[in-house]
Amino acid sequence: MEYTYEFFAKSADFVLEKIGFTPEIGIVLGSALGPFVRYVENPVAIPYEDIPNFLRSTVATHAGELICGTVAGKKVACMSGRFHSYEGYDFDQLTAPVRLFKLLGCRAVILTNAAGGVNENFKPGDIMVINDQMMFCGFSPLRGKNIPEFGPRFFDVQKMYTPALRELALKCAVNSPLTFHEGCYFFMQGPQFETPAEIRAIRILGGDAVGMSTVTEALTAAHCGLPCLGFSVITNLAAGMLDAPLTDEEVNEVGRKVGEDFSAYLMDVLEKM
Ligand code: HPA
Repeated sequence: MEYTYEFFAKSADFVLEKIGFTPEIGIVLGSALGPFVRYVENPVAIPYEDIPNFLRSTVATHAGELICGTVAGKKVACMSGRFHSYEGYDFDQLTAPVRLFKLLGCRAVILTNAAGGVNENFKPGDIMVINDQMMFCGFSPLRGKNIPEFGPRFFDVQKMYTPALRELALKCAVNSPLTFHEGCYFFMQGPQFETPAEIRAIRILGGDAVGMSTVTEALTAAHCGLPCLGFSVITNLAAGMLDAPLTDEEVNEVGRKVGEDFSAYLMDVLEKM
């Protein structure tokens, strides 16, 4: 399908009418980070299926609502539940969430995910501030006819994860009991977890964490000029690093354990953004 500016504007017009304010920051909550929405004051929750021309969540642990309100004095739009290529979405469909944020009037986005630790210094429960990404499988979400109202055909991605926001994130990390790192997020399409051989290759290539989301959203933000901050919650050591099966229960369990501390940390970052 060929998308138009008006196609995406229809989703945003509907949401703006419902919430009656302009959100400043768009936030995507990854696996098991859903509890953050408890901190949204005066929330207006809009199920994805009510938003015209929007996508639907198919993952059980992803709630599937856009929650708009105030956190730490900032007006936010929070996606509780995100969309992945492994659900069957085409890469160009995955532009929808960040384009919605852009059209709602957001001035920055925060992307969060659960990821496997590839870097041998990472432990489950650690947080990685994403400083770059690699995507060698699948397509760019910006493939196809360009929509110039969002951005140019060819665009620079050297500072896709905005340096000033990363600096702020690391400054706030000092006040958190969690352990923070900076590193490169490596995208794999899933839904299977990786093979040990793939993880060895990813490590040689320079990936520090591996996951099945986020890269399309960061690229869409870069295309439309939205500053972007990204976090991986390291929920497990990647395939082959321990002699144990990888399960989504483990991912969700670690997500739950750091959920409170990570939420408190995110509020500190939001306050200072
Ligand atoms: N691989 C891919 N995605 C993930 C992982 C992993 O090990 N952990 C959480 N999401």
